Amino acid sequence: MVVSREVNRLSDELADVNTTYDRHTKYIGSEVKTLSDEMNKVKTDVTKVSNNIQDVSSLERKLLIKTLRLVVLQELKAFGTSMYTFHTEKLTWTEAQQKCQEDGFHLAEINNDNELEFVKELVGSHLAWLGGTDVDKEGDWRWVSSGLKVMASLWNTGEPNNYGNQEHCLHTDYGITSDGLNDRNCEDGIAFVCELEP
Ligand code: BGC
Ligand code: CA
Repeated sequence: MVVSREVNRLSDELADVNTTYDRHTKYIGSEVKTLSDEMNKVKTDVTKVSNNIQDVSSLERKLLIKTLRLVVLQELKAFGTSMYTFHTEKLTWTEAQQKCQEDGFHLAEINNDNELEFVKELVGSHLAWLGGTDVDKEGDWRWVSSGLKVMASLWNTGEPNNYGNQEHCLHTDYGITSDGLNDRNCEDGIAFVCELEP
């Protein structure tokens, strides 16, 4: 009698132990799953970061080679603390700005008389886009990168005239009958000058 009661008690206890064991096993299983999910997420992130690092260094390499090429071809001109490239390819003002930006440059800006003489020499009689526009406010001519006003003395006589009410981009015009900057339709395709500032 005593033995059978003891057997019953032990078997109840065993059932309890089994239930607890099952509960813990399930809990541990779900924890392991959460951890392994998280680990996979971290792995994906690490892969992404390492791909980004590779992208950056391959971009840096491309930029370095591009710059080196410009130096070797002597197409990179230095003046003051800036460097400049002159492009005879005919682009709209926005396309020209984008082209400059691809190499970390912006359309060139004239901030003093010495820089003016340098740019004049660089472009000769070519019409070439510079980084000035009054697109934000008619008549308020600004250099895009610095936000500074365009010096009034830089304009050709009679300019800017906003001819046909559609001239909002600025270019060089040092020809036989002109000696200054002109405003022109931004959609016209002309040469351009890029500038790289430190
Ligand atoms: C005018 C400029 C104008 C240009 C447009 C010239 O004849 O003098 O002001 O921007 O034509 O093509
Ligand atoms: Ca004009």
